[in-house]
Amino acid sequence: MTDEGLIFGLHHVTLVTSNEQLNRKFYTEVLGLKRVKLSVNQDDVYHRHLFYADDPQKGNAITFFEWPELPNGMIGLGSPHHLSYEVDSVDALLRWRGWLSSKGVPSSDLVARDERVSTYLRDPDGVIVEITTDNVEKLSDGYVSSLKAEPAPALSPDMKLSSFNHASPLSRDPETTARFLEKVLGLKRSYSRPNVDQEGGSVVGVGNDTRPDFLRYLSAKNARRGYVGIGNIHHIAMGVAGDEEQLRVLRTLEHRGVRNSGVIDRFWFHSLYFRDPDGNLLEVATKTPGYTVDEPSETLGSRLVLPTWLEPRRSEIQNALDKEDRSNPLRWPPSSYPPVPDPAEQTMVAIA
Ligand SMILES: [Fe+2]
Ligand SMILES: [Fe+2]
Repeated sequence: MTDEGLIFGLHHVTLVTSNEQLNRKFYTEVLGLKRVKLSVNQDDVYHRHLFYADDPQKGNAITFFEWPELPNGMIGLGSPHHLSYEVDSVDALLRWRGWLSSKGVPSSDLVARDERVSTYLRDPDGVIVEITTDNVEKLSDGYVSSLKAEPAPALSPDMKLSSFNHASPLSRDPETTARFLEKVLGLKRSYSRPNVDQEGGSVVGVGNDTRPDFLRYLSAKNARRGYVGIGNIHHIAMGVAGDEEQLRVLRTLEHRGVRNSGVIDRFWFHSLYFRDPDGNLLEVATKTPGYTVDEPSETLGSRLVLPTWLEPRRSEIQNALDKEDRSNPLRWPPSSYPPVPDPAEQTMVAIA
């Protein structure tokens, strides 16, 4: 059964950070997002779970598990490559480059790919973040890469990172993965294009009518298995309107024999987890109840909030977090940032 339009797009993307304060400073002071939730990982309650968004009502939160003891992760099968935010214009991208530079954050020259223009950067933990726009005339790659960063003393409204454009996992066989997502989620394979950064590789866009490629699978035929650690994507969550729609997904997964977590109450939304054929962890999350169910929108993210079932353990949890903080002091600003990602890095990932 095809559930057209069941999945509205990305709901959140969850990654791993080494340090809560480092993470907060980067995502709020450099990328201009608001922290919309400060909580703990419900499956590992002595570690924090941090949520940031431009507007929590719109969804599209980037969230982090704080796991300082993990090694750095490695991109590969099961450990997605990057995530991408969209802005309205090339001009906004050039000012992003100027703003990032003023904060000491390297970013790539603009690159033109498939009728869109992007710059890439890494957060202090090494996460690859793309900022992209499709508001481009026919611009040659040579012309685009010659454009210079423009000074930006502050983040202007058109630079806001209010919406994800896509997330990019790797797949040994993206066509099979696209068929899997069509069957279990009613998504559509929108295109398959040559990956200009990887000879013989392809990019397969999967999405819905409104957002045809919020998942952009990168083919990596001989890819090694990655592992999730600091600086990597842990899972990618897509959104459904509510519980009824989520149950339809659950029934389809069960009907097709896809192993899944069942519906889990995450307090601010309900979650359902499963893996794609390459082992990338995917989630289907409900839009409701939302981040304001337990704190007012004006003060979202300012204090540690716990789901009701963890409240009785608050002091024990706080003590564990305090203890971890003492052994994991803030290093800000970072003495250096990880090098700017090279789009051709995907080629390296593909070598088994
Ligand atoms: Fe991308
Ligand atoms: Fe999630």
